[in-house]
Amino acid sequence: MKRFIEHSELARDGRFVRQDNAVVGILAQVPDDVDTLVDLLDRLSPMVEKSVEGTEAEPLFEAYGPGFMLVTLIEALVPEDPAIATRVQLRFHGIFVGELQALEGAGRSLWDFPDAPWEFKMNMARQCWDEARHVQIFEKLLDHVDGSPGMFPEATFLFECACSDDPAMRVAGVNRGLEGLACDVFRDMIRYGEKIGDEKMAQAIDYVLADEITHVRFGSNWVREFTKDDPDYFARTQAFRRQVDKQFSLGGARSDRDDAAIRIAREDRLEAGFTEEELDELAGISGGGPSRETMIEAARILKERHFARRETAAS
Ligand SMILES: [Fe+2]
Ligand SMILES: [Fe+2]
Repeated sequence: MKRFIEHSELARDGRFVRQDNAVVGILAQVPDDVDTLVDLLDRLSPMVEKSVEGTEAEPLFEAYGPGFMLVTLIEALVPEDPAIATRVQLRFHGIFVGELQALEGAGRSLWDFPDAPWEFKMNMARQCWDEARHVQIFEKLLDHVDGSPGMFPEATFLFECACSDDPAMRVAGVNRGLEGLACDVFRDMIRYGEKIGDEKMAQAIDYVLADEITHVRFGSNWVREFTKDDPDYFARTQAFRRQVDKQFSLGGARSDRDDAAIRIAREDRLEAGFTEEELDELAGISGGGPSRETMIEAARILKERHFARRETAAS
């Protein structure tokens, strides 16, 4: 079996549609400027339109144009939102495919590094077992909110960003970056489940979160172990995690900022081996990028241009 596969080689059945990762990458890079954001997303419009074709996200594209991702990213989930049903489905679908990629990431970590210590392989095997269970739990939760696998396009940027060819980098990216993001998102979803009185949702995700904290801890421990005699190596893994965290911060949508759609789950992360310094640093990294106001204004302009284009095409 091949070692070190590309994200494009991840196997999916006919239900799944692959999405280009460009939009997420852009949000991590652009400055806090409406015009720059509008120009970039407008240029991507044909590609975004193609990526949602035949999926449940098509009506969202029709309603908002290429800025629909901004709308779904920036707004925290609130029961009063008229689009809440679709947005909850979108969130659960994103988590469901994220769990699939976490399973694939842990599986690859087990396979890609044959010389790693036995205990490392046991940890990765344990993680695969957990992730397989999470895939099943989120498949059921997706069904619980009337969704289904493949209803939205799948972005594989979690796998793409987090998987490195080096074992310490791999656990820094997958276990501390990707799994850390999972902690933030799950804490947010537990809060949402409690808010709407959906005990099944809150309880199921609480079980999953307990596992994710363990996975982050695997990452915290193995980064330290792999790099213990080499401070430069340790510094490189920290730099890689910072880069992954920046990409996963979705332009500040996940951050410590007051306007963040998803806040950093500080207590859960402390329990998982992050230090206060690392969390302050994470808040600094993820707090960069366009503000909520910038994204709202950009989404408004993109929607206007989208409708203007549709009108021209119809006349
Ligand atoms: Fe998971
Ligand atoms: Fe996990």
